[in-house]
Amino acid sequence: MEKLVIKGGTKLNGEVTISGAKNAAVAILPATLLIKGTCKINNLPNISDVKIICNILKELGAKITWTKPNEIIIDTREINCTKAPIDMTSKFRASYYLIGSMLGRCGSIEVGLPGGCNLGARPIDQHIKGFEALGAKVTVGQGKISAKSSKLIGTSIYMDVVSVGATINVMLASVLAEGTTTIDNAAKEPHIVDVANFLNTMGADIRGAGTDVIKINGVKELKSEGTYSVVPDQIEAGTFMLAAIASKGNILIKNCIPEHLDCITAKILEIGGNVEIYGDSIRVSNNKRPSKVSVKTLPYPGFPTDVQPQMGVVLSIANGTSIINESIWDSRFQYTAELNKMGAQITAQGKTAIFEGVDKLCGAPVYASDLRAGAALIIAGIIADGTTEIYNIDHIDRGYENIEEKFKKLGANIQRINE
Ligand code: EPZ
Repeated sequence: MEKLVIKGGTKLNGEVTISGAKNAAVAILPATLLIKGTCKINNLPNISDVKIICNILKELGAKITWTKPNEIIIDTREINCTKAPIDMTSKFRASYYLIGSMLGRCGSIEVGLPGGCNLGARPIDQHIKGFEALGAKVTVGQGKISAKSSKLIGTSIYMDVVSVGATINVMLASVLAEGTTTIDNAAKEPHIVDVANFLNTMGADIRGAGTDVIKINGVKELKSEGTYSVVPDQIEAGTFMLAAIASKGNILIKNCIPEHLDCITAKILEIGGNVEIYGDSIRVSNNKRPSKVSVKTLPYPGFPTDVQPQMGVVLSIANGTSIINESIWDSRFQYTAELNKMGAQITAQGKTAIFEGVDKLCGAPVYASDLRAGAALIIAGIIADGTTEIYNIDHIDRGYENIEEKFKKLGANIQRINE
């Protein structure tokens, strides 16, 4: 089993290049099933979630060639299976995108009920509502989901909950449907726009992605031989922004889209940090103790839940008492117990956590409960006095490419040790 060992007390200074967005890549790869041909995808993050979805696609009959470390050519002409391996899909949240894309491609699919991070209840009722509205028959049981349809007919669907996954999944199922589908109360995250841009590059007709109303005019087929580059990862960029603040460092974050980071930038300015915005990079620096703030996570363009734990590290050493209200997930404060082992004073109750800022954290053995909590613990280890050991780092590898190398280049004393 591997662990990360961090000797703390360093400021992070230098440059980091952001990888392609995990939450776009894990949707774009299944989306290639809508193409009966080949396409090239680059700026793919080299992370375990991407490897898992590639292996699942191969089980369905896709041929995948890695032409460069972050680029593949995928051939989906010969998809000869509609039952994705349950042992693989049930471990992986984004496997539910196989439903929307295979319904669109051939009208039949069976996958394991999606797993993924332990954030509390993760229902998929809005996904199912969308598929059934389009005319599919969906059954859930024995740990799997089966969906069938002879023909998908475009319709209007109102999302009861703003859902990234359901918005993308209904978009996937609508691309080759007959007629027009309207998704109301759609989620607006940058990765949703990226999936729509990928599909439009391949000949789909999707308008309004990034707003709360998305219109998909069904087309007969998507074209082959296209190339697409995955959008830079908003969440990875946000992680390094907050690492700069927590460590009182100065980091130039390259290959990002600053507009996607406005919500994080606003909070950093409130905290007393400095932000300089350039075309495709952003510099974040800090030279004093962070001020207390209150944070409420919201769907985009609100403060992203996926950088909530990283913000928690900053608030654990801020001046005064701060509050975080986690409005998206029922159970996303597990990391606070690990920070308390390091000397933080955090009280988490349901969807609210109160942070009594302390002068410093002290290194300790801690456990990552999900990938963003793991990233937060890396930041905590870097700023703490003494040595921190982080276990369960497979969570982190799901969503961060070469995480320890990127932090090492910024001055962190961090090693991956194989126990
Ligand atoms: C995506 O999860 C991301 N994962 C999550 O990132 C992220 O936290 C989340 O969006 C919110 O931004 C991927 O993209 C693979 P949702 P998703 O559907 O799509 C409720 C990470 O760290 N809901 O937007 O599963 C749900 O319970 C991961 O990269 C329903 O009620 O999230 C939640 O309260 C962790 N019914 C809210 O909506 C549904 O059918 C938002 O969930 C679907 C969702």
